[in-house]
Amino acid sequence: MPVTPAPARAAAAADVPVPGPGRGPGFEALLRQDPEVADLLLGEEARQSSGLQLIAAENFTSPAVLAALGSPLANKYAEGYPGHRHHGGCEVVDMAERMAMERARTLFGAQHANVQPHSGSAAVLAAYAALLRPGDRVLAMGLREGGHLTHGSPANFSGRWFAFTGYGVDPHTGLIDYARLRALARELRPRAIVCGSISYPRHLDYALFREIADEVDAHLIVDAAHPIGLVAGGAAPSPVPYADVVCATTHKVLRGPRGGLLLCGERLAERIDRAVFPFTQGGAQMHTVAAKAVAFGEAATPAFAEYVHQVVRNARALAAALAEQGLAIATGGTDTHLITADVGPLGLEATAARGRLAAAGIVLDTCGLAAHGATRGLRLGTAAVTTQGMGEPEMTRVAKLMGAALGGAQGVREEVAELARRFPPPAIGS
Ligand SMILES: Cc1ncc(COP(=O)(O)O)c(C=O)c1O
Repeated sequence: MPVTPAPARAAAAADVPVPGPGRGPGFEALLRQDPEVADLLLGEEARQSSGLQLIAAENFTSPAVLAALGSPLANKYAEGYPGHRHHGGCEVVDMAERMAMERARTLFGAQHANVQPHSGSAAVLAAYAALLRPGDRVLAMGLREGGHLTHGSPANFSGRWFAFTGYGVDPHTGLIDYARLRALARELRPRAIVCGSISYPRHLDYALFREIADEVDAHLIVDAAHPIGLVAGGAAPSPVPYADVVCATTHKVLRGPRGGLLLCGERLAERIDRAVFPFTQGGAQMHTVAAKAVAFGEAATPAFAEYVHQVVRNARALAAALAEQGLAIATGGTDTHLITADVGPLGLEATAARGRLAAAGIVLDTCGLAAHGATRGLRLGTAAVTTQGMGEPEMTRVAKLMGAALGGAQGVREEVAELARRFPPPAIGS
């Protein structure tokens, strides 16, 4: 995608500040030193704020989270854990990590939290490293039906090092086929069952997953990358009481920095910590750890609880309005921020649909659908537009704009830009 003009370069040449939301002294320094990169930042800011960001895994972090990310903690090496570092000068970052761990434990009611994983995939890798041996059998959601790469894709370490079998959803209802899952578990007696998905829009029955895992003496690993923000705000059930280990990301509905998180009981705490460092990672990114602490603090507020409940109300409203536009909504609706929809009834394939929507400034993903394979599914979510302050009336409007774009109508891009202008994302970097 072409980068928008070069306001930063022009401003640098004229030695004037670039107008725009909340650009602090750091941005002015970048502007003077490297206007080419400054332009990329401005171009991306313009892209994010002039369209509709409906990628289910994305959100707008707060200026406070961004301030922690752009802080001097980025300079600090801190291999190890608070009080047991391989570097000197860790007294301040130790406090930041202890704060992040304590806030995560309190927020999720977990006995132990590891806040160091660099990403969701790194968290899953560490969970497997703690509980599995190469070659072990693992049951996870099939990739076509919403499993993540780390749930056994042959292109990923998980599929290369472990023997994954996929469970799935009933092709008619789109709901997890728990009877089939139980039968597969009894037949295969896996070392672990992984519960979690990139696109399943319904709450998961963690108690039933636990019951099935116990029946076959398997570990239960919950990959809650998507719902963890809803869990934090009380809009989705918590996997913490049921899972041996919960893996998560901090950057989706949870609205923190890009990164991973692990939660577990005291019994596994040491194994999990050793699986992160030194087994799979080196030095923790302390600026990100501090930003996670900020995000956990925000997620503990009543305002965040209201936010995540609005995320779900918006997703339900958007799903219903998209059905009126002729899309077939998988499972008939949603319990979460996520919607998966079949564009087949409109006579379209998913990649063409995504292209038409992108041309109108509406950004989302394609996904597999149990009944139709990879060609007809769209995956979208309401986390980012809800952060912008949109509510149910705007979701009806978004669905109409999507319907118009999918039908090839003219002028949708301008209408999308006008809607987005009325709901600016939080000021970037202020
Ligand atoms: C279920 C699930 N697990 C793991 C991940 C991986 O997270 P990351 O992209 O931070 O590695 C994702 C990301 O979307 C996810 O949805």
